[in-house]
Parts: sequence; structure tokens; C-alpha cells
Amino acid sequence: MKKFIASVMFALSASVMVSGAALANEGGVHLESANINIHDQASLQVGAKYFANYCMGCHSLNFSRYNRVAADLGLTEEQVTKNLIFTRTDGEPTKAGELMKNGMSPKQSAEWFGAPPPDLSLVGRSRGSDWIYSYLKAFYVDKSRPMGVNNTVFENAGMPHVLWELQGLQAKECTKEGEGEHAVEHCEMKTVKAGTMSPAEYDKVARDITNFLTYVGEPAALHRKTYGVFVLLFLGLFAVLAYFLKKEYWKDVH
Ligand code: HEC
Repeated sequence: MKKFIASVMFALSASVMVSGAALANEGGVHLESANINIHDQASLQVGAKYFANYCMGCHSLNFSRYNRVAADLGLTEEQVTKNLIFTRTDGEPTKAGELMKNGMSPKQSAEWFGAPPPDLSLVGRSRGSDWIYSYLKAFYVDKSRPMGVNNTVFENAGMPHVLWELQGLQAKECTKEGEGEHAVEHCEMKTVKAGTMSPAEYDKVARDITNFLTYVGEPAALHRKTYGVFVLLFLGLFAVLAYFLKKEYWKDVH
């Protein structure tokens, strides 16, 4: 029986590892480390601001409410109403207690972009932060695509490069080394039009948006990890107590 349980546990953990690796390695592209910190409130606030301004026109966050985000990011409801809410519900400005939806119809947007912009509530978990960060940096000019851009991380994505004014435009230049089967292709990104931000500034914006989307994917993580430290401390102390208790109980037996 023990053997059976052990082999089931092994099979389960192996399959989890394989599926994780398969997702992370999708398409075989190299992902840059996002290097985010969900406890960095300033970064989350900047990320939320950029998300509301540049992304929410197309993407909703159907599982988040504005006031929950406000509380977690250290913002007042007034700040949120003024700076993050641009939508209306039934003709009235959307209230802070409402879900972060937008008015885009999936059917129409599927016609415009070839695919409807998905809800991004859980993208931090489905794609992972490194993927989102790399994706936001990987748009390049490709005249054959309807939006004029393609993406090395998400090939043929229907999304336009909405942050192009900040990042500028880049082109993908590839050179082949070697012959026939053994040829290796090296590709590099070259800036063809500078943006309003320096590459370091743009990286920070991409990182802050990624941080925000990662937080949104699991808001409870903000508190869960703090509780975890206390739980471990308690278990450590309890182990010491249990050890002395055991010694006391068994002292006449041994
Ligand atoms: C003009 C509409 C539009 C805007 C604005 C926009 N997106 Fe998108 N986005 C799309 C569409 C359409 C897709 C689906 C692409 C596809 O499946 O081909 C998409 C896909 C994505 C995905 C991949 C989701 C997945 O798991 O497949 C991410 C992540 C994403 N967008 C992030 C952002 C962020 C961050 C911003 C703001 C900086 C943003 N988008 C702004 C239209 C938009």
C-alpha cells in the first residue's frame, strides 16, 4: 500500500512538473525574468495606472473590484474614482465597489483583432509574470500583420503594440549561421523609431504592469505569505514545546 501511494505521489508530481515546464517553454522562446515584487506598493500603483490608461479599453479584470484594489494598493476610493475609473455603468460613472469590467463586446472585438481581448484577471497565473513582462517588450514591426506588428513571445498575436509611443518601434533582424540542417538563426531587436522613454524607463513600466497583473491574479498572496511566516514560527516554537512534553511523559519509561 505504501509503495502504491508513493508511486501515485511520484506520478502526480512528475506530471505537474512536466506541464509546468511545457507551459513555461511554450514556443521555445527565451523569457526574461520579470523580477517583480508584489509587496512594492509604489510599483503596483504605477502598474494599475498604466493598466487603466492603456489596457482596460480592451481588457477587463472581471474578478477584481476597484475598492479591493484601492485597499490593497494603499489608495483612497477617491483616488481610484478619479484616476482609475474611465467607464460608465448604465450611463453613470462606474462606482468604486463595482467589478473592473469594460464595455467592449467580445463579438465586435473578435472581428477587429481576429481574437477577442481576453479577461486578464488570471493571466498572471496562466502565463506567469516572466511571460507577460517579455511579451510587453517583444513587439516588432511586421507589415504582413493586420496591426503592423508581431510579437516574438506570442507569435501572430491580434493585439496592437499599445505602448509603442513609450517604447518606440523595434525591428527583428535575423542572421543565419551555418548551412542546411545545422543552420542556426540568431535574431536581434533593433530600435527603428525611438520612443518617449529610455529602454530602462520602459522596462520599469513593463515590470510595474506585470507586477499589477500578478497581484490581480492572486490578491490573497499579499497576506498569505505574511501569515505563512507566522505559521512557520508557531510550528517551530510548538515543536520545541512538544519535544519537552514528550521528554516529560516518557521520562519514567526509559
Ligand atoms: C486595442 C485592444 C487592446 C489593448 C488596448 C490591449 N490589448 Fe492585450 N490583447 C488584445 C487582444 C485582441 C489580445 C488577444 C490576442 C490573440 O489571442 O491573438 C490580447 C492579448 C493580451 C495578452 C495575452 C493573453 C493570453 O493569455 O493569451 C496579454 C497578457 C495582454 N493582451 C496584455 C495587455 C496589456 C498589459 C495591455 C496594456 C498595456 C493590453 N494588453 C492592451 C487587445 C488589446
